[in-house]
Amino acid sequence: MSSLIQNVKTCFQSVFQYPATHCIQAPGRVNLIGEHTDYNDGFVLPCAINYQTVVVASKRSDNVVRVVSVDYGNEVDEFDISKAITFSQDKMWSNYIRGVVQCLLEQGYDIQGLDLAVSGNVPQGAGLSSSAALEVVIGQTFKVLFGLEISQAEIALIGQRAENEFVGCNCGIMDQMISAEGRQDHAMLLDCRSLETQAVAMPNDVSVVIINSNKQRGLVDSEYNTRREQCEEAARVLEVQALRDATEEMLNAKRSDMTEVVFKRARHVITENARTLEAAKALANDDIEQMAKLMAQSHASMRDDFAITVKEIDSLVEIVKAVVGEEGGVRMTGGGFGGCIVALVPPRLVDFVKAAVEAQYQSLTGLEASIYVCQASQGAGLIK
Ligand code: GLA
Repeated sequence: MSSLIQNVKTCFQSVFQYPATHCIQAPGRVNLIGEHTDYNDGFVLPCAINYQTVVVASKRSDNVVRVVSVDYGNEVDEFDISKAITFSQDKMWSNYIRGVVQCLLEQGYDIQGLDLAVSGNVPQGAGLSSSAALEVVIGQTFKVLFGLEISQAEIALIGQRAENEFVGCNCGIMDQMISAEGRQDHAMLLDCRSLETQAVAMPNDVSVVIINSNKQRGLVDSEYNTRREQCEEAARVLEVQALRDATEEMLNAKRSDMTEVVFKRARHVITENARTLEAAKALANDDIEQMAKLMAQSHASMRDDFAITVKEIDSLVEIVKAVVGEEGGVRMTGGGFGGCIVALVPPRLVDFVKAAVEAQYQSLTGLEASIYVCQASQGAGLIK
């Protein structure tokens, strides 16, 4: 991360002609299990990763926010927080920032202008939540610089709201919560209804391996929204507030009242919630074999019932599974339709996993995968 920080500092100095006073980071995330459960008020088990978005900033005494993006060729955006904040058509990256500032103002937080420079190394468009990291780091920056009394969960909610209402993507709360509240060397069991969290220690003898299929994620937004609607439809038929409140028995009893597709979508969510709670226990007990079983079931459920995997992702999972067997778990992670898989692998097998992916993935799919060996990392905060 140190070169990332250095670059942002240098950029700030060269654009604004003075040094920044503060440096703040927020991480991307990988979800170990609990997919498409967050917007059903259910459970998720993500961890923050050691890929971050970093901001350096200084307070201004007026109401102007000036932002420079290192990753977009030092492009500068500027807006006045005492006037209506509008959507930027030409600097899409800035809308995450504009949206968060807008939500902070709407919530009545007492803030002023800032100069800030931003850069990140969370791969974009890979399903590792680079946008949540950006939203959260902006909320965190305002918290730190203006001494706001705002909880980490509120920062997450503001990030989600910015994304839902300003950027226009209907995501759940998982990505922002783990970016805001992650703990070093721990995964986080999150109850997406109460926002209660429980830190679950990652076993020592397991590496978190993320493999990006580099399959362009097509149709993500429309498919995501369709899934949400199907889940809401199932909840209506089952007469529950959200699928979190339903059991498999309840679902089976009403099977004939819904389409086969809606039934399968609901079955994924209901079983995935149960698996996620089991997985938190398995991880806490260092029971990798059980964790591996749950991850395999989760993948099958995403593939067969929720229909969000693509063939590239399924082949990656099979390649890795053939190497790790029962000693490690592997599944697709994130929203679906491309993106990444996550594997929990004994460290001695990591090189074999890499070798197998390098040897097989490209010839099967024509694509080259990117492999990241990660650490479960700390959530957003000031870098001293
Ligand atoms: C995306 C969304 C999350 C969550 C996952 C699926 O990452 O941003 O809120 O719904 O998909 O688990």
